[in-house]
Amino acid sequence: MPGELLHLVRQRIRVHGPLRFDDFMSLALYSDPHGYYRAHVPGADADYHTSATLTPWFGRLVCLRLQQMWTELGSPNEFTVGEVGGGTGDMALAAIEAAAEEPDFAKALRWTFVEPMPAVAGLQASRLGHLGDSIRCVDGLEDLSGLTGTILANEVLDNFPFRIFEIGEHGLLEVRVEASRRDLQETLVPVDAQSDPALLTPLEHLEAGDRFEVHTGIQTWAEGAAAALESGYVLVIDYGGVEPSLWTDRPAGSMVTYRRGRLGLDPFEQMGNTDITSHVNFSELDRSLRAPGLKVRAPASQREWLKDLGIGRIVDELRRQEAEARDDGRHPDSLSAMAERSRVQSLTGTGLGDYLVLEAGRS
Ligand SMILES: C[S@@+](CC[C@H](N)C(=O)[O-])C[C@H]1O[C@@H](n2cnc3c(N)ncnc32)[C@H](O)[C@@H]1O
Repeated sequence: MPGELLHLVRQRIRVHGPLRFDDFMSLALYSDPHGYYRAHVPGADADYHTSATLTPWFGRLVCLRLQQMWTELGSPNEFTVGEVGGGTGDMALAAIEAAAEEPDFAKALRWTFVEPMPAVAGLQASRLGHLGDSIRCVDGLEDLSGLTGTILANEVLDNFPFRIFEIGEHGLLEVRVEASRRDLQETLVPVDAQSDPALLTPLEHLEAGDRFEVHTGIQTWAEGAAAALESGYVLVIDYGGVEPSLWTDRPAGSMVTYRRGRLGLDPFEQMGNTDITSHVNFSELDRSLRAPGLKVRAPASQREWLKDLGIGRIVDELRRQEAEARDDGRHPDSLSAMAERSRVQSLTGTGLGDYLVLEAGRS
């Protein structure tokens, strides 16, 4: 209920003063029971779509990369995918189905959802429970320790709480959330940029009035992933960029909201029914994975990454099916092949194709 969530946020502000944006987000997205991710189970009326929910071909291509990783590790008897924030489970369903075509890999493959939201974990269990013991669900990365396999996160880190900063005429300012008589609103407070090296670099590239965000949980998440990994990979796919173009391409910052598929800019509107997100800083993710000893590859665009995995062949095959069905007079089949081809092509088009894919590894 937005009203109860608003009451909770107001109460926090009364006790602590204006809240940092990451603290506000923790309440708006994750507080129990009314935070957006607590109260909304991903599904048919989703506020967002991801590559994984768009078409099963995404999960199938991810499966191909997972199989390559398994081979690179010497084909171990057990290869576990720890999927963080697996949402509807569509990625897992498509990948496990595709793995069945490679019996040795299928035998080794285990899938563990890392999902702190009980209702989402329930959905994952109900959709994949029929696959038996090879599917598990755990609360956090600490439950994966000793993992041989891949920690996978598709469109998850962008949802981690972030702070928002604005370059002021006389120094750095931070967005805080304060309560007005009827509502919530932003206020800007000065911060000491010297207090945190992560705040100094953006200052060199931006001008007065520009904004940028800092996801506060990424370093801890990377440390947790590296600690869990005995041998294998971390695979992160998300929208974002590298420094400094991450900031200079979007000088107003990249915070947006999603509600019923519509993009918005007001994080206080329909709190609890609205997703809040911003671009992931892949340079920071790179540093955070490197620090605990992982080898990190420069991120590739999702477009290039999927091309390397052979998405072009799938598009060609769907185009062939479309023409064959049309020539045979099977018009509904032709249309459905065309619709699927268009979904597959959008994985590499403007938008999804511009997402970044980062691979890091320990062998
Ligand atoms: C945009 S959805 C992406 C779902 C899925 N990965 C996909 O590609 O369709 C974000 C998911 O991340 C989960 N999530 C959010 N914060 C998380 C966190 N700190 N740790 C793990 N999962 C999280 C949410 O419950 C939700 O399932």
